Amino acid sequence: MKVLLATQKPFAAAAVKGIKDILEAAGHDVALLEKYASQEDLMAAAADAEGMIIRSDKVTAEVIAAAPKLKIVVRAGAGFDNVDLEAASARDIVVMNTPGQNSNAVAELALALMIFMARTQFTPATGSELQGKRLGVQAYGNVGRLVGSKASALGMKVCALDPFLTDEQIISCGADPVHSVEELYACSDYLSIHIPALPSTIWSIGYDLITSMPKGATLVNTARKEVIDEEGLMRALEARPDLKYVTDVMPDNYAELQEKFGLRVFATPKKMGAQTAEANVNAGLAAARQTVDFFATGNTRFQVNRK
Ligand code: 3PG
Repeated sequence: MKVLLATQKPFAAAAVKGIKDILEAAGHDVALLEKYASQEDLMAAAADAEGMIIRSDKVTAEVIAAAPKLKIVVRAGAGFDNVDLEAASARDIVVMNTPGQNSNAVAELALALMIFMARTQFTPATGSELQGKRLGVQAYGNVGRLVGSKASALGMKVCALDPFLTDEQIISCGADPVHSVEELYACSDYLSIHIPALPSTIWSIGYDLITSMPKGATLVNTARKEVIDEEGLMRALEARPDLKYVTDVMPDNYAELQEKFGLRVFATPKKMGAQTAEANVNAGLAAARQTVDFFATGNTRFQVNRK
């Protein structure tokens, strides 16, 4: 089979080698498309692909239509909002993710961003410490739990909201359960967002929630840009000069936010949460193994679209 490894944001070399080794050892041909300039480049490369391994690359209905032999897309990572699941399902193309494989990298970055903001973006101004502060974790999945446990080790008091977990499950994973998003924001000195981008979560965090946070609070977004109502964020930061926003997913209105709020806002120049050699190897090799297994045995574990 021909498998296309398409990564606009390339994997570390060790991960690319590992992915190729696994696929080629199983008899597959690997094509590599990195740092491509346009969706047209992706469509051209996908034309004869039977499998695709991607990161945040956009596998739209057009890309799927341009890949008539495609049978499987594996998103080497957690979020799959970049794949048109309906278009894939309509063609019986299996879409998978590799849950948990890059979570530690994202969790470490979330903590790093909190410290960066607490220490006034590493300027000489007097900062503050995380120890003793309350951390709210919005969605206690693979990343959220790692953020929670690392924050606990730093002496933070962790509470979490997750509609898919019982109180007992949240407690057994080291956090105090809260039962509404309003309660979570109102009690969090730091709020770390780990919800996926879904129709129900897009633009769900806006003025009311952000301004309900305690004095001096910091909102940390290593999830998706789309979950923030950016206009509401702007108004909240205007209304509350004590609040801060830090994100690994640059807002559309970042230039304006920076101009207005200076050191109270920060966005990484390019999404880097999962951009460690370890996460690249973990997620990339898992994606390669899942692809090989699918073609060899039909295994659809980790499938995220309609079966
Ligand atoms: C994910 O959903 O796994 C993360 O957002 C990482 O995305 P990336 O592979 O594009 O860095």
